[in-house]
Amino acid sequence: MSTSSIFRTGLTLAAIGAICTMLVAATYQATRDRIAANDKALLEQSLLPALAGIDYDSGLTDSLLELQPPHELPGNDTALVYRVFAAGEPAAALFAVTARDGYSGPIRVLIGVAYDGTVSGVRILQHRETPGLGDMIDSSRSDWVLQFDGRSLGNPAAEHWAIRGDGGEFDQLTGASITPRAVVGAVRDTLLYFDAHRDEIFPVAASEENE
Ligand SMILES: Cc1cc2nc3c(=O)[nH]c(=O)nc-3n(C[C@H](O)[C@H](O)[C@H](O)COP(=O)(O)O)c2cc1C
Repeated sequence: MSTSSIFRTGLTLAAIGAICTMLVAATYQATRDRIAANDKALLEQSLLPALAGIDYDSGLTDSLLELQPPHELPGNDTALVYRVFAAGEPAAALFAVTARDGYSGPIRVLIGVAYDGTVSGVRILQHRETPGLGDMIDSSRSDWVLQFDGRSLGNPAAEHWAIRGDGGEFDQLTGASITPRAVVGAVRDTLLYFDAHRDEIFPVAASEENE
C-alpha cells in the first residue's frame, strides 16, 4: 500500500470516528431531558404510596433535604428527606433511610410522616431478605408493611414500638423475626427523629410559630 493510500484510509477512518462521536453526542443531547423526566417520574411513583391521605400541591421531589452523617436517623448514611407542602404550609416529610440490622444486609426504607407526626405510609425501597421469609416486608409480597399506616409515637407508646415477640404491638413474620424487627426499629427511630427535629426539617413553619 502506498503512503498516500495509507494517508487516505487514515483520513477516512478519522472522519468516520468524528461522525460517530457527533451522532452519539447528538443522541445524548436529545434523550437527556427525556431520561431525566423518566427518572423523575419513576422516583415519584416509588414515593407516592408513602403519602396516602396527604393533601399537597407542591412537587413531590422539589424540596429535598440530604442529611449527611453523622445524624440520628437509622443507618447513619445519607438520608433523603422529601418535603411536601399544601398552600405553602408543611404537609409531610418522606424519609428514605437505611435499616442496618436486616437478616441479609441493609434494608432501604421509605417512611412518610405527616406534619402532625402520623405515619402516612411505609414502603421498602431495597432489600436482600430471603424470598418467602424476610421478603414479606415488601408490599408486593404481603400487607405486612401496611400496619404502620396512621400510627404515631403515641399510638402505640414508644416502648411498644416493637414486634410482638419483643413486647410490642407490631406483627412479626413466622420464623423470620429479624427482618421485621429491623423495619419496626427504623420506623420508630425516624418518628423519634421527626419529633425532635421537625422545626429543622420545616424551618419556615417554625419561624411562623414563633411570630
Ligand atoms: C436460609 C435461611 C434464610 C433466612 N432468612 C431470613 C430472613 O430473611 N429474615 C429473617 O428474619 N430470618 C431469616 N431466617 C431465620 C433466622 O435465622 C431466624 O431464625 C429468625 O429470624 C428467627 O425468627 P423467629 O424469632 O420467628 O423464630 C433465615 C434462616 C435461614 C436458615
